[in-house]
Amino acid sequence: MINPKRSTQLVLDSLLKGPLYGIVNHRIHSPVTLDAAENWNFWTEPKSPQVEWLFRKYPPESIRKKHLDFMLEQEHSKGIEAHYDVSNDFYALFLDTSYKFYSCAEFKSDNETLEQAQTNKAAHIFELLELDGNEKILDLGCGWGAMLKFLQNSGHKGELTGLTLSKEQFAYDRNQLGLNVFLTNFITETFENKPYDRIFSIGSFEHVKPKEINKIYQKIYDALTPEGLAVHQFFSLERESYPVSMVMTQLFFSGSVLVTHDVHIKAAQSAGFTISHDSIHDYKPTLRKWYENLVKNQERALDLVGLETYNRYITFFPIAWLFFQQGEAQVHRIVTKKSRHY
Ligand SMILES: C[S@@+](CC[C@H](N)C(=O)[O-])C[C@H]1O[C@@H](n2cnc3c(N)ncnc32)[C@H](O)[C@@H]1O
Repeated sequence: MINPKRSTQLVLDSLLKGPLYGIVNHRIHSPVTLDAAENWNFWTEPKSPQVEWLFRKYPPESIRKKHLDFMLEQEHSKGIEAHYDVSNDFYALFLDTSYKFYSCAEFKSDNETLEQAQTNKAAHIFELLELDGNEKILDLGCGWGAMLKFLQNSGHKGELTGLTLSKEQFAYDRNQLGLNVFLTNFITETFENKPYDRIFSIGSFEHVKPKEINKIYQKIYDALTPEGLAVHQFFSLERESYPVSMVMTQLFFSGSVLVTHDVHIKAAQSAGFTISHDSIHDYKPTLRKWYENLVKNQERALDLVGLETYNRYITFFPIAWLFFQQGEAQVHRIVTKKSRHY
């Protein structure tokens, strides 16, 4: 049955923010649970050239830019709270059971489990950090403590500190894992207790606003010891700044807008870093696994977070899959070294 209020919202959203935004928002607010198979196929199957064109070109860049500039004025903590402070038990329904990484894993074959793939990713980052076991390390955007836990399990003896802006994660990290984690905005607040031998981030640079990119690389450079290095995994745009997808993304990460990869590299270099590693990784298998886990746990998820949040997340995973499938963005893992003598 047609609901006039929902139809009007769809038309208004499509005109003002584009049909991609309009349709995503319409489906998130569906009065019934979205069907798992239909929903995945709806987003991931190829569309007609006309639909593709509309999804990529409308609204025009000047309107997108205005909307995004407005969204960027928002406080960091608001967007973080909306996405992460949903329910720790809800996230546990779809993340890997070993570490609770909420970032791209590394599948070495189709048969691997999410747990194996997240361990592979952690092991690669561990190797890139070039540790002897005694370094003082800072994790920017530590989530549910996944990489800190991996480091602890490796027998690392040096001091480990994590920062997050999510209150739910902070409570979990402190109370459940006993980690040295602080509720601190790593962009706007100063790093306490510096210098650090190593600084890393996994999946949190996506939240750094375009005008803050240069500042964050400089801040990391200044907080490292002379021989220090930093490792970052993040996804960045590959084609254009201000694509239509960034407008739609506001439905999931409000106030966050990606920049192109070269902006990251130039910012790191102008801070004084040498880039010694830059690899590309595929986010799609992780997104598919999270989707499968979440729909398998639909009933419990609905009990924990209700219909709208459930529909929001099962829309988010295939939309993000499409975003990577179309090469709009890519996941990079980079190593930035402070010393040029290595
Ligand atoms: C996608 S999650 C990744 C979490 C974790 N690194 C992992 O791999 O599972 C992004 C994390 O960045 C944190 N974050 C984003 N912006 C932040 C900021 N300005 N200050 C502190 N933490 C921030 C969020 O709170 C969240 O913990």
